[in-house]
Amino acid sequence: MGLKSPAVSYPAVPCCELMKGLSLATCASVCNMSVGSMEPIDILQTEAHVAKLRPFISSQQRTASSREEREEVAKVESSYGSSRWVLIGMNALVTGGTRGIGHAIVEELAELGATVHTCSRKEAELNHCLQEWTGKGFAVTGSLCDVSSQDQRLQLMENVSSLFTGKLNILINNVGTNIIKKTAEYTAEEYSKLMATNFESTYHLCQLAYPLVKASGVGSIVFISSVAGLVHTSSGSIYGATKGNHHDWSLSVALV
Ligand SMILES: NC(=O)c1ccc[n+]([C@@H]2O[C@H](COP(=O)([O-])OP(=O)(O)OC[C@H]3O[C@@H](n4cnc5c(N)ncnc54)[C@H](OP(=O)(O)O)[C@@H]3O)[C@@H](O)[C@H]2O)c1
Repeated sequence: MGLKSPAVSYPAVPCCELMKGLSLATCASVCNMSVGSMEPIDILQTEAHVAKLRPFISSQQRTASSREEREEVAKVESSYGSSRWVLIGMNALVTGGTRGIGHAIVEELAELGATVHTCSRKEAELNHCLQEWTGKGFAVTGSLCDVSSQDQRLQLMENVSSLFTGKLNILINNVGTNIIKKTAEYTAEEYSKLMATNFESTYHLCQLAYPLVKASGVGSIVFISSVAGLVHTSSGSIYGATKGNHHDWSLSVALV
C-alpha cells in the first residue's frame, strides 16, 4: 500500500489549540503529521485504515453472542459519541503526553477506548496528568523517560512490553523541541540536542517498537512532524531539518 500524503495546512495558532475537540484524523491534517508504517502495518490517517479497523470493531460485535452482550457493546460504542473511530481493545504509546499536542492525543485515544502509556521527563507534571486522567476514567499509565537517551528508550519499551503483553497497536512519536537561532549561531551541542530529541529518538523508538507493533497484527506509527519540515517557517533550520527527516524517513520506512 502506498503512502497518501497528509493534507498540508498552515495554522495561525498553536496546533494544540486547533486540536481541541477534533478527531485524530483531523489533527493529522492540522499538524501536518507524517504518518509512516512498517509492513504489515497500515496507515492511521487514511480512510483505508479506518476501513481496516472496522472488522476489528464488528468482530467485537460478532463475538458478543448474546443479545445482552451485543447491547453492552453498542452501549459502550455509543458512549464514545458519533465518532467513526473506536479503539476499544487497542493500546498506544504516546511520547510527551503531559502537555500540548501529546496531551490532546492521549486524551483523544483514551476517549476512544484505547489503553494508553505516555512518557515525559518531569515527574510532578506526569503524576499530575495521571491523576487527572484517572479522575476522568481514562486507562492511562506513564513513566519517566528522556527519549533522547537510548538507555531510557530501552527501559520505556520494556515497560510498554510488560504493560501491553508484548503487543503495541499505536506508537505516536510526539516529542519534539526547538531552539530558534540563526543558522550560523548554533553550537554543536544544540545541533546534537535537536537531532537527538526530534529525530534520533523517533528512529530508535520505531526500531525498538517494531517487534511489538508487528506482534499486534493491527499497528500504526505516527510521526508528529511540522510544516517546518516542508517549507521555511522562521523556526530554525535545524528544527526544519529534523521535521523534514520525519517526512522522508516515514516514506522510506513504510517500504522497507
Ligand atoms: N506547537 C505547535 O504549534 C507545533 C506545530 C507543529 C509541530 N509541532 C510538533 O508537535 C510536537 C508536540 O509539540 P508541542 O508544542 O505540543 O510540545 P510541548 O507543549 O512543548 O510538549 C512537549 C511534551 O514532550 C515532553 N518532552 C519534551 N522533551 C522530551 C524528552 N526529551 N523526552 C521525553 N519527553 C519530552 C514534554 O514533557 P517534559 O518537558 O516533562 O519532558 C511535554 O510532555 C513536537 O514534535 C512539535 O515539534 C508543534
